[in-house]
Amino acid sequence: MANSKQLIAMIRSHASGDEERFFAVADHIVSDSRKAGHHRMADEIAKLVGELRAETSERRASSRPTLIAAPRGELTSLVRASYPDTRLSDVVLADDVETRLRRIVREHRERQILADMGLQPRRKILLSGPPGTGKTLTAAAIAGELGLPLFTVLLDGVITKYMGETAAKLRIVFDAMQQARGVYFFDEVDALATRRGAENDIGEARRMLNSFLQFLDEDSSGSLILAATNHHELLDRAIFRRFEATVQYALPPPDHVRRILTQHLPQFDLAEVEWNKISAAAEGLSQAEIVAAADDAARDAVLESKGILTNAILLRAIGERIHLKL
Ligand SMILES: Nc1ncnc2c1ncn2[C@@H]1O[C@H](COP(=O)(O)OP(=O)(O)OP(=O)(O)O)[C@@H](O)[C@H]1O
Ligand SMILES: [Mg+2]
Repeated sequence: MANSKQLIAMIRSHASGDEERFFAVADHIVSDSRKAGHHRMADEIAKLVGELRAETSERRASSRPTLIAAPRGELTSLVRASYPDTRLSDVVLADDVETRLRRIVREHRERQILADMGLQPRRKILLSGPPGTGKTLTAAAIAGELGLPLFTVLLDGVITKYMGETAAKLRIVFDAMQQARGVYFFDEVDALATRRGAENDIGEARRMLNSFLQFLDEDSSGSLILAATNHHELLDRAIFRRFEATVQYALPPPDHVRRILTQHLPQFDLAEVEWNKISAAAEGLSQAEIVAAADDAARDAVLESKGILTNAILLRAIGERIHLKL
């Protein structure tokens, strides 16, 4: 039988449109029902879930844009396309950051209303902060919220050592923005836009930065341009002016540790967890490291403790992640 935690997790995941989590919890209810000997109920739910899954994957397949769904020609070495199902509710964010991101998403959903008044949604957004705090996840979530493809720009393919070639490759990417509306994500943008005059600034680095700035200026596509960096301080000042919003990411405060763990362990009863101790132990870990600790703890709970996730298991998993950093 489903327990109340599972029901709540299910309702939450449904409300936030998080289909993957919805199905994960449903699968757990099926297996719990079987374990409890409620075979007819388990069969019935399993059948229903199977049908829903088939419907969902059909719907997703048919809603995908076909226009350069798969990049062609030279573009294949410059961008990687994906169609994330991620939502903003999957990203645990500071309230003000979440509000700002939701406003930007809304501007795109309602861009026709803005256009009627001669306005445009903000399209160029810079995400900065330490590793593992949710920048890449946010890019996926914005694409997911808007039902747009995510085109991750492969900077290894874009940046070459040959004179002028980087600019030519950048042009191909910026032309694609015009032709296929999507979220174009420049991860580790510092590789492209370090400060002018920094040491090692052979002429080509400056040329590359200048062409990036120029393409950003000229771009008038309907696409979103997201850029992420761990090294805000290394970016050329001129870059900041080109972005219409900057969003700062940070390591999680104690209440986010709890939210991330709860979100990632919907199949476990966490009523006995001593959150103060857990949050204190997790200080200094990034959101990504906390997710990794949650996965470790889940495996240990299943294999070592009959599926019961104890405070001690969680503490150990977190301790091991802290140890890895030292
Ligand atoms: N704010 C968050 N909320 C929930 N999960 C998160 C968050 N940040 C990170 N994660 C988890 O960690 C994984 C890696 O995070 P992500 O790739 O977004 O980090 P990043 O900020 O892009 O790091 P990097 O600077 O190293 O690229 C995510 O897929 C997700 O599972
Ligand atoms: Mg990243």
